[in-house]
Amino acid sequence: MKVTFLLNGETVEVETPATQTLLDWLRGTRGLTGTKEGCNEGDCGACSVIVTDETSKRALNACILFMPQLHGKSVRTVEGIAGPNGEMHPVQSAMVDHHGSQCGFCTPGFIASMAAGHANGRTDHDDMLAGNLCRCTGYAPIIRAAKAAESDPVPVWMNEGQAPIAPAPFAPETLDALCAWYAANPDATVIAGATDVGLWVTKQLRQLDNVVFLNRCRDLQQITETNDTITFGAGVTMVDVHQTLKTYHPSYAEMVRRYGSEQVRGAATIGGNIANGSPIGDNPPALIALGATLHLRHGEATRSIPLQDFFIAYGKQDRAKGELVTGVTIPKSAPALRVYKLSKRFDQDISAVCGAFNVTVSGGKVQAAVITFGGMAGTPVRAAAVENALIGMPWTNETVQAALPAFTQDYTPMTDMRASAAYRLEAAQNMLLRYFAELSGQATSVLEVQP
Ligand SMILES: Cc1cc2nc3c(=O)[nH]c(=O)nc-3n(C[C@H](O)[C@H](O)[C@H](O)COP(=O)(O)OP(=O)(O)OC[C@H]3O[C@@H](n4cnc5c(N)ncnc54)[C@H](O)[C@@H]3O)c2cc1C
Ligand code: FES
Ligand code: FES
Repeated sequence: MKVTFLLNGETVEVETPATQTLLDWLRGTRGLTGTKEGCNEGDCGACSVIVTDETSKRALNACILFMPQLHGKSVRTVEGIAGPNGEMHPVQSAMVDHHGSQCGFCTPGFIASMAAGHANGRTDHDDMLAGNLCRCTGYAPIIRAAKAAESDPVPVWMNEGQAPIAPAPFAPETLDALCAWYAANPDATVIAGATDVGLWVTKQLRQLDNVVFLNRCRDLQQITETNDTITFGAGVTMVDVHQTLKTYHPSYAEMVRRYGSEQVRGAATIGGNIANGSPIGDNPPALIALGATLHLRHGEATRSIPLQDFFIAYGKQDRAKGELVTGVTIPKSAPALRVYKLSKRFDQDISAVCGAFNVTVSGGKVQAAVITFGGMAGTPVRAAAVENALIGMPWTNETVQAALPAFTQDYTPMTDMRASAAYRLEAAQNMLLRYFAELSGQATSVLEVQP
């Protein structure tokens, strides 16, 4: 595939295999070894680079970015963050002044994330840097450095020129072209953000030749609002989903803040998180609790189904070969929605259990209840027996306590490295207690009870 992009301000044209990663190309072919390889699976941020297009500037992990995803974009590596005459970028000077680097292995990745955050005026440094791991310096000096650079102007050399934008057959620009191609090539692998597919290549060493990239299809990246609904195109990244959720569904948004890292959320799409059918994907429980509708398209034929019907069994979804997930619609208003993610680590970890609760209480009685869990079965599944134990009953602690045994009718979770079956069951029950407590006005978040 022939890919054209700006690298540290210069146009490069590269003939590349479909699944060569940017990190391998930078270090192996281009000799730009400032960008480091730590985990090679999106977890450590040592490989962070800045990727800019006409819609955004974001830090992304080069180890799970395929070269064709860069077509028409600008890439800035740590070698391009200092000025043309060696002037330091404000975040670099601040890291020196605040002693933000010891062994230095993580530092290029931190600098890339910090410079992206600086360019975007970000001051939520803990969130911005949660995907960059440092083993030796400790985070306090690094966060101090990020804070110190906040008010310095963005250096002129950080403004990218116009990236060369030429249509590419491997990345259709319209939904019509994409769906026609996919229907004609139903065995192809669709690649959206590659935060799952990237690992098939870097960890499972899979060879993928017949692929199509979604990231140039702007039709899939729209967020459409009506008076009472929001529709996310399948190609909307989790960074952009998060922005919208903050306004309408703050509890769901708070969960998404802990979804991967800034670098993962900047690439990962909501469509990829649904289409992969994972039992521990974090969006589906919340979306099902919201009564979401999923939109699919095969060639010119479109259909819409309740999202909960999409997940048939582990590894099996209601999606034909060659059929694309195009978007998902949710209501704007669901004041009782709460979403709880339980993972071993607070930031940047996959859920052991993720629970989403949406209970409607009127006149002191439960009128409706939708409770959905990820991590409790082979698919995201509603807790039908628990819901039935609540509906029609007074919304009281007694009712909630009485409903807890019903969890054993709904779920027979498994034991794996993230949690034991017994732990999962108890955690799910405790989440219902937490939901009741939270709706009763008690502080339930570990962040709220910090001194
Ligand atoms: C470090 C790291 C942390 C992570 N943390 C989390 C987390 O906290 N929570 C979580 O839920 N997930 C997490 N993930 C998993 C992953 O980021 C998400 O599942 C992500 O949303 C996948 O989206 P994507 O666009 O990257 O999909 P891709 O990797 O591009 O694709 C995933 C699958 O979906 C298919 N696909 C993609 N788009 C479509 C479409 N529109 N129509 C049909 N098929 C499609 C692909 O063919 C592939 O089978 C993490 C991953 C990494 C590497
Ligand atoms: S090398 Fe660890 S995130 Fe890329
Ligand atoms: S400075 Fe050594 S890992 Fe961060």
